[in-house]
Amino acid sequence: MAELTIENLSFTYAGQTQPALQDINLSVSSGELVLITGATGSGKSTLLNCIAGIAPTYTAGILSGDLCYQNQSILHWDIKARSRYLGFLLQNVETQIFTDRISDEIAFGLENLNLPPEQIPDLINAALSEFNLTQQQHWTIQQLSAGQKQRLVIACILAMKQPILLMDEPFAYLDRASASFLLDLLQSHAAQGQAIVLIEHRLDLVQSICTQSFCLHKGQWLTQTPKIQSVDRSSEVDHSTKPIVLQCRNLSWGGYPQFPDLTLRAGETTLLQGENGCGKTTLLKLISGLLRPTTGTIELLGKPQPRRIVEISRAIGFVLQNPNHQLFAESVLQEVQNDREILTQLNLEEQLERHPRSLSQGQKRRLTLGAVLARRPKVCLLDEITVGQDATSLNLMLELLKRFTQAGGAVIVTSYDPQVANALGAKILTL
Ligand SMILES: Nc1ncnc2c1ncn2[C@@H]1O[C@H](COP(=O)(O)OP(=O)(O)OP(=O)(O)O)[C@@H](O)[C@H]1O
Ligand SMILES: [Mg+2]
Repeated sequence: MAELTIENLSFTYAGQTQPALQDINLSVSSGELVLITGATGSGKSTLLNCIAGIAPTYTAGILSGDLCYQNQSILHWDIKARSRYLGFLLQNVETQIFTDRISDEIAFGLENLNLPPEQIPDLINAALSEFNLTQQQHWTIQQLSAGQKQRLVIACILAMKQPILLMDEPFAYLDRASASFLLDLLQSHAAQGQAIVLIEHRLDLVQSICTQSFCLHKGQWLTQTPKIQSVDRSSEVDHSTKPIVLQCRNLSWGGYPQFPDLTLRAGETTLLQGENGCGKTTLLKLISGLLRPTTGTIELLGKPQPRRIVEISRAIGFVLQNPNHQLFAESVLQEVQNDREILTQLNLEEQLERHPRSLSQGQKRRLTLGAVLARRPKVCLLDEITVGQDATSLNLMLELLKRFTQAGGAVIVTSYDPQVANALGAKILTL
């Protein structure tokens, strides 16, 4: 008997004419690991939201078709009733953190399942040690890096042991070691009988562990999975005679070891690499003026970094790891200061009148890049923005960045995707 069955499911967001999902059928049995892929905006998260009951309850819209847990319809169950059987990792993990401390966060889900209090401490300790978070158990969650937060939320969900797991891009933000650890862990959870539905763009990463894979295209299943497109490699260019736009020396902040020195010339791209929590985002925040260094100096365009962020931001654009933190306008077009060309280059022209908050996560990420580049900065800082892009969208972003550097812009980027360094011809700086 299948754990989860979806029959002819269709869903249209309120105010939209086109359905986001159309006639979706799926059956997932215990022990299976089902992969869902598809371009950004194709409906992947919407599908998981429909299964969990978040759509239409919180998104508004019209849903038809049926959803069953062990052949019993759960369509009229509320989110709480469904959550006994469904564990759900949302795409933006920050929206599912409810407490301030790591061990409280793991306890939160277990307490909500009404487990006997005496069982909870052991389950928390097991989850902490399984996810390598024992050392940080008394930290506040604010102190965690994006990758560590992702690990924590996955730990919280796996600790609840529901029979069905829905995971929306669990590998986003994980470094290679954590990603391969999670692959093994998901396989072992499936072997113990959980039914897992997983969204991920990088087929090469997950295809080998999946029992079925499906591709969504504009809300419908595609019968053939599209071929993976590779990103063109950038040709080597000598930048040694170009002017220096940014120089950092002896920088340190908080408890991190001193950061390596960095010199960035016009037209150049530097890739920051290092495992989760090593300080990549912190270094970008120091350069952008969001944090002040404890020691060391930063020179921007040949002068000491101005003290006021408004002045720094005239030269430096910062695309944050979480796009939800930097979308402010009422429409997609306003967000890029009416620069239609940038929207076309990022394949967002169809969405130009939409509210930025109603975009899919990958579309939002492309939009934040467009919004920053539309302000014509000299240096662009990009924190993991290529996460969650399908191959076509990734190519568009990389092409736009190549054009930016060819016109003399300089880029500092963090990414675990080796394609990014190759495509941008980046120098690598390891933290
Ligand atoms: N609240 C909303 N209101 C209106 N449209 C929405 C809303 N949320 C998503 N959409 C639209 O529905 C479509 C599917 O979005 P969804 O978030 O499911 O895509 P996705 O496949 O998960 O994309 P990504 O890979 O970028 O996460 C997109 O066109 C998106 O813009
Ligand atoms: Mg999504």
